[in-house]
Amino acid sequence: MHWTSVALVLCSLAALGWTCCTPEQWEGEQTLFSGYTGFFQRGLIKEFNDVAYDYSNKRSAVFLRYINGDIEAKIKIVVRYDDNDDAGMLYVDNYNRGKCWKKRLDREFRKCCIPKDAKRLGEYSMGLKGKYNATSYEIKGKRMNFILTVQTLGEGVCAPIGQLAAGRVGHFDVVRNVGFINITPGIKNETVFDVPWDCKDDWSDFDLPIEIDRQDYILGV
Ligand SMILES: *[C@@H]1O[C@H](CO)[C@@H](O)[C@H](O)[C@H]1NC(C)=O
Ligand SMILES: *[C@@H]1O[C@H](CO)[C@@H](O)[C@H](O)[C@H]1NC(C)=O
Repeated sequence: MHWTSVALVLCSLAALGWTCCTPEQWEGEQTLFSGYTGFFQRGLIKEFNDVAYDYSNKRSAVFLRYINGDIEAKIKIVVRYDDNDDAGMLYVDNYNRGKCWKKRLDREFRKCCIPKDAKRLGEYSMGLKGKYNATSYEIKGKRMNFILTVQTLGEGVCAPIGQLAAGRVGHFDVVRNVGFINITPGIKNETVFDVPWDCKDDWSDFDLPIEIDRQDYILGV
């Protein structure tokens, strides 16, 4: 399974209304463990990522440290909607190879939210009772099903804690566990959203694996 099958980004397409959304700007770290099995291949992907999300300016960035068996890669994924609210650009920079993929996104920027129609599974304490409350939701997607866990920060505002996903990605059956840690509000340094260096001149749209733009996200479907 290619590294790009892991990846991307946060958030949601649906616009049916939200139970809660993350703050407009935040950064954090993301751990991902994804077991996959296909006809010829199986394995475990591990990722330790830095995530930055900026809904106000419609941009996001993920810096991935990706490990899949012997393969290790450092990848930067940037999404930007510079001059058009309905169409953006996705940049995927593979540092090790000095190679960049770009793709036009003909959709709105995804807002990080729990959609209204998500099934509420319950609210509970993580660890010591009463100290750290979390709420979990179940969302059924076309090819993946999700359980999303968030911390409520205020009326309609929540922070992601975790995502469990199971289903099909391309030709693989996948179970994926994503955790969010050390989330901080705001953007410390806007340069995280800069178009990666390798993406400046070369244009190679074609071979971006489809999974990089897959329709499952950190929060919402
Ligand atoms: C967690 O929820 C319980 C029960 O609703 C409440 O008493 C407690 O204050 C909450 N804890 C925090 C840290 O919000
Ligand atoms: C932001 O990050 C860039 C690149 O790492 C660095 O050169 C710059 O000094 C940083 N700016 C601030 C205000 O910290």
